[in-house]
Amino acid sequence: MFAQEPPLKRKNRRSSARTAAQAQEPPLKRKNRRSSARTAAQAQEPPLKRKNRRSSARTAAQAQEPPLKRKNRRSSARTAAQAQEPPLVQKTFIHIHVMIDREGGAVFKRGETMNIFEALKSRRSTHTFKPDPVPEDVLTDIFRYGSWAPTHYMKEPWQINMYQHEGKTSLVDAILKSYERIGMINPKGGEKVEKMKASMAQFLLDIPHHALIYFPISDDPVRYEEDYASVSAFIQNAQLAAWAYGIGMLWTITPYMHDPDFAKDLEISSSMKIAAVMQIGYPAKIPRSKERTDIQKKLIFINE
Ligand SMILES: Cc1cc2nc3c(=O)[nH]c(=O)nc-3n(C[C@H](O)[C@H](O)[C@H](O)COP(=O)(O)O)c2cc1C
Repeated sequence: MFAQEPPLKRKNRRSSARTAAQAQEPPLKRKNRRSSARTAAQAQEPPLKRKNRRSSARTAAQAQEPPLKRKNRRSSARTAAQAQEPPLVQKTFIHIHVMIDREGGAVFKRGETMNIFEALKSRRSTHTFKPDPVPEDVLTDIFRYGSWAPTHYMKEPWQINMYQHEGKTSLVDAILKSYERIGMINPKGGEKVEKMKASMAQFLLDIPHHALIYFPISDDPVRYEEDYASVSAFIQNAQLAAWAYGIGMLWTITPYMHDPDFAKDLEISSSMKIAAVMQIGYPAKIPRSKERTDIQKKLIFINE
């Protein structure tokens, strides 16, 4: 499926178009022009009224027809405009492998599609993986989707080290050494401890891929927060893209990530912050959905 469409070409064309446009003027000017345009429009009426008008306009439009119809109308308009090139539907809907919900609910078959709302709700953190490795071009695509995350100043601070095949050994060794250093494993342990270490190592080696995600540490705490937030958005984008491919991930933040010698063992500079280690592979079992708190309990509309 993916071999038939040229996502890379489309993407490259778009990004070079963007770069060409940006080359015309410095980023600051572009920003100023945009915000002054907004300010001019807003000058017509107070911001509060604008907000209210927007929400009531939406409500009025929605009252005319159900949300699904509105969606369909939009996508057919898009398809007509793009008749010259592969339709957008190929980019937003991804063909996936067989996935069976633990409760027998959702069953997705190869060739079926998953839209963003399905991906958001059905994605589960994966704790058990099949041994089959995920092809590198699929992993690359997943993180390419990840990189469409919002990122302040377009810094795209994320870096990924993918440990797989024999490459997992160095990661697992570094993890076990770190656990000994920080006292999670008794370094003077006898046979029992050695057995436990062996079983921990095997557990980690059985996971097809481990993606260590890191980013440069900024001296400025505000920039550091922004970068961490961007990297988190990147990770979640990648998780959702993976899910749409039928691939599971487990986002982990574990004590070894805070051990400076762990990074050193993996030749990751001390100027980098390790944000997460993602365990990746085809799910052997999909965990039960954990209900979420009704967002209405957390959402406040402030209208005046
Ligand atoms: C920043 C972050 C760190 C996490 N670290 C771990 C972890 O170390 N071990 C783990 O089992 N799950 C970890 N998780 C996964 C959560 O436990 C999981 O997302 C949560 O239980 C909800 O389940 P779901 O993702 O299947 O909806 C982490 C999630 C986030 C966002």
